[in-house]
Amino acid sequence: MTSVLYTGGNGRMGQVIREELRGRYVDVVLYSQPPGTTALFQGEREVLGDLGDLDALTGAAQGIDVIVHLGGIADEASYAEIEKVNIHGTYNVYEAARRAGVSRVVYASSNHIVGFHPARQRIDESVLPRPDTYYGVSKVFGEALARLYYDKWGIESVCMRIGSFRPEPEDARQLALWLSWRDGAELVRCSIEAAGIGYEIVYGCSANTDRWWDTARGWRAIGFQPQDNAVDHAGSVDHAHEPSRFHGGAFTDQEYQGGLWITARTTKPLA
Ligand SMILES: NC(=O)c1ccc[n+]([C@@H]2O[C@H](COP(=O)([O-])OP(=O)(O)OC[C@H]3O[C@@H](n4cnc5c(N)ncnc54)[C@H](O)[C@@H]3O)[C@@H](O)[C@H]2O)c1
Repeated sequence: MTSVLYTGGNGRMGQVIREELRGRYVDVVLYSQPPGTTALFQGEREVLGDLGDLDALTGAAQGIDVIVHLGGIADEASYAEIEKVNIHGTYNVYEAARRAGVSRVVYASSNHIVGFHPARQRIDESVLPRPDTYYGVSKVFGEALARLYYDKWGIESVCMRIGSFRPEPEDARQLALWLSWRDGAELVRCSIEAAGIGYEIVYGCSANTDRWWDTARGWRAIGFQPQDNAVDHAGSVDHAHEPSRFHGGAFTDQEYQGGLWITARTTKPLA
C-alpha cells in the first residue's frame, strides 16, 4: 500500500516509468512544473509547483511514503541554473521529505558523477567521484545530501547512477551504459519496494555484457535483475564516432555546454 510522489514525472524517464508501473501504488502524486501533465494515468493526481518552492513540495509530500526524484536539469547548463534547480531543488526535496515524514527518496543520480574515470576501466560505487560537468557535480551533492539525511534523520535513499535511458542503445559508448526502458522501470520499482535498504548507490544499466561498472553489490541490495543486454543491438548502433576516452563521453569535452545527447529517439509519446 505504498504512496509515491514523482518529481519530473512528465519528463522522458518519468513518462516511461509511470506507464510501466501504473496501477501499482495506492496513491501517486506528480509534482510538476506548470502547465503540468497532459495525460494522467488512472489513480494519479497532480500538484503544480517548482522545485524551488519548499512549502509547496512539503504540502505535496504529506502522506507520501516514497519520493522518486527525477525532476531537474538532465544535462550540462550554466552553474547558476544547475545550482538553482539541481542543487537547491534537491535540497528542497530532501527537506520536504523530512518535514512531511517521507521514509525514502529514490534519487535520479547519474553516470556523470564518475565521468572522468577512464573508459573501459571497470569501477564500482566505492570509487571517488570524478564529475565531468557542473551537472555531474550537482549529482555528487545530491548523493551526499542523501547520505546526510539517512545518517542524521533516517530517511532512506537509493541513488541510481543512471547510464543512458533509451529505447535502444544509440552509439558505441551506450553498449556499456544503456538502460532499457523496461529495465529502468524495474530499477525504480526495486528502489521503491526493496525492504530495509538504508542508503544505497546503484549503477543503472541493463545487463550489458560490456558494462564498465561492477554492479553486483548494488543490484543484489535492491534485488534488481535486468532483462536486456545492449550487445543484442550492437549491429544497429552508430559506430562512426571515436570511442570515448572517459566514462562521461562528450560531457568530458571542455567545450561541452549541453544539448548534444538529446535525440528524437529518447522521447516517448504518452499512451
Ligand atoms: N535520461 C537519461 O538517460 C538520464 C541519465 C542519467 C541521469 N538522468 C537523470 O534522471 C532524471 C530524469 O531525466 P529525464 O531524461 O527524464 O529528464 P527530462 O529533462 O526529460 O525531465 C526532467 C523533468 O524535471 C522537471 N523539472 C525541471 N526543472 C524543474 C523545476 N525547476 N521544478 C519542477 N520540475 C522541474 C521537468 O519539467 C521534467 O519533467 C534527471 O534528474 C536526470 O539528471 C537521466
